Amino acid sequence: MSKEKVILTGDRPTGRLHIGHYVGSLRRRVELQQAADYKQMFVFIADAQALTDNIDNPEKVRQNVIEVALDYLACGLDPEKVTIFIQSQIPELCELSFYFMDLVSVSRLQRNPTVKTEIQMRGFEGSIPVGFFTYPISQAADITAFRATTVPVGEDQKPMLEQANEIVRRFNYIYGDTLVEPQILLPDNAACLRLPGTDGKAKMSKSLGNCIYLAETADEVQKKVMSMYTDPLHVHVQDPGHLEGNTVFTYLDAFCRPEHFERYLPDYPNLDELKAHYTRGGLGDMKVKRFLNNILQEELEPIRQRRKMFEKDIPAVYDMLRKGCENAREVAAQTLADVRRAMKIDYFSDAQLIAEQAARFAAEQ
Ligand code: TRP
Repeated sequence: MSKEKVILTGDRPTGRLHIGHYVGSLRRRVELQQAADYKQMFVFIADAQALTDNIDNPEKVRQNVIEVALDYLACGLDPEKVTIFIQSQIPELCELSFYFMDLVSVSRLQRNPTVKTEIQMRGFEGSIPVGFFTYPISQAADITAFRATTVPVGEDQKPMLEQANEIVRRFNYIYGDTLVEPQILLPDNAACLRLPGTDGKAKMSKSLGNCIYLAETADEVQKKVMSMYTDPLHVHVQDPGHLEGNTVFTYLDAFCRPEHFERYLPDYPNLDELKAHYTRGGLGDMKVKRFLNNILQEELEPIRQRRKMFEKDIPAVYDMLRKGCENAREVAAQTLADVRRAMKIDYFSDAQLIAEQAARFAAEQ
């Protein structure tokens, strides 16, 4: 078992977390935490990054910090094992971003595919806020300030990790070996890479109203499952059904385990058989949706219960976050000391520099 792993990941606090976040990353984090095969693990709330495209809505970001923190705790992240912190409270991240800016060209940022699509989605083409444009740089700082080796995120974050690695290589090449190259850890199940919205659209998004939130009541979840997008050609039960783009089956791919069949659908031995019957014809959408609903309820109920418990003591959650910020800051400060030394901007802690210069000026007198 290697204890050299430093795991780090984060989320923007722009809303409650949904089951796309859960299968894409949250579930994995809890597994990593339980496996305990790491030196340190950090999970943070990227409020400063959220502000890069919500600059006129600070209240939204402020209110969602606690929502995300509650979602973390509800999913089972344990502050005893994982340092949970808030990005903006670590000023070292700004400092590191500032130095990293010298290592990245404008055209390189323009080629970042995630930034490209996000600029279009937000209608920023005409005037892109500089902070938004450069958030891949600040994200590289988030990762490297903690010497993260392992970053569990969704596929859309791949360009961010590539950018971070380029920055690390460039930094180490110019200033000497100082920073660590992080590796992305993607979900191993294709359905989890990007869970579609309940309406079948590619992405879950609050504005489209197609998300199932972790904190949602059982009734709300059921309602959303029962109205999910399936196969528009599957009109009658006996019609052959299609699996491609069929959201209910994509969700089953992401959530279903063999034991769910024993519990909720014993007529079928496994998901392949269920799919085969659906494709042949003779299996109605309702039956499949009821099965999915049972699975989701089983998975979400303990999360809901834990959230309710943590909601009872909000000051304690803030206390936990404050401690997390203090711990995180210590680690980042260590890295920044190394960075300043490598970049030769550590004037006051370099006795040799001062002595040598004193000698040189004395000789010139
Ligand atoms: N950009 C990430 C997202 O939108 C959030 C994030 C910010 C992040 N900094 C990070 C994720 C560092 C991993 C590592 O989900």
